Amino acid sequence: MIFRQLFDGVSGAYTYILGNEETREALIIDPVLEKTERYIQLLDELGLKLVKALDTHLHADHITALGALRDRLGCITVMGRQSAVDQVSIRLDDGDAIELGDISLRALHTPGHTDDSYCFLMADRVFTGDTLLIRGTGRTDFQNGDPVAGYHSIFAKLLTLPGDTLVYPGHDYKGDTLSTIAEERAHNPRLQVSSAEEYAAIMDNLHLPDPKMMDVAVAANLIIGVSVSDPMVEENTLSVTEARRYLEKDGAIFIDLREAPELRKAGVIPGSLHAPYAGLSGHIQPGGMLRALADRSAKTMILYCAHGERSVLALRALKDAGMENVRHLRGGFDAWIRDGAPSTKH
Ligand SMILES: [Fe+2]
Repeated sequence: MIFRQLFDGVSGAYTYILGNEETREALIIDPVLEKTERYIQLLDELGLKLVKALDTHLHADHITALGALRDRLGCITVMGRQSAVDQVSIRLDDGDAIELGDISLRALHTPGHTDDSYCFLMADRVFTGDTLLIRGTGRTDFQNGDPVAGYHSIFAKLLTLPGDTLVYPGHDYKGDTLSTIAEERAHNPRLQVSSAEEYAAIMDNLHLPDPKMMDVAVAANLIIGVSVSDPMVEENTLSVTEARRYLEKDGAIFIDLREAPELRKAGVIPGSLHAPYAGLSGHIQPGGMLRALADRSAKTMILYCAHGERSVLALRALKDAGMENVRHLRGGFDAWIRDGAPSTKH
């Protein structure tokens, strides 16, 4: 695995790049907007293609680069189900796997610092965001923070990991770069407590000032969804009601852009074909499935994903490749299900 830990001196935030040496695909955790150019350059130098950008939680101290990286590199965005963000490509639940070829991260929902905090666990290391810091823990006094929930997240989900698990936090203000679970269990002053109440008493008496960037950062981080305000997208967007009409008349081929685990978990629109967004360029090229469909079928292709973000990116790619009879489903499978539209198991 290719691994980089990057630091933003302004916010004290760590960003991590994980790259698969075989496939040359990469993901990034907690990228900072001001560093976008640096990430793009480094990915290029390392010969990596960014496919996923993850945030551990909605940040209050810096503006996320999730939206910028999606717009620049076409990667997909990932956050927790609970996040108040307007749109991401994939919303995680506790226990979900995030795969990068043979590298796999497990999402652990660890509310406390915020209600949407997640840690990402690999075999030998865990990316703890602001849930667990080196000799500290993330504050719990805003963004639906909850010290009792934080105690349970840390003690039940993190401190129960093998002691030699490496801890890579979301921040450090003292220059430390990593720790281990055993080290934090033994030496983190906040964790030398015997009950949730005792931990909450510490956290409730920190009296920290608000982060300098808080008002600006939270407002910006809430609205990162893909822009749909271009006439091409507007013209080619279908509501669930419109898409259902196509399904009833058998007038369309539904193309599912999600990843296999998402299909297994949530189900699919009946009769749809599976073309994961990550492999889209292959499907568009001559000989590819979508190219063949566009050439041979008179039916409309309706692109859909989980929430309607990947389908906008894919719509642009198919249109750029000269495919005319393509639409995308606004709100994705999530909106489809909320409308009570039919689905089948995958
Ligand atoms: Fe935070």
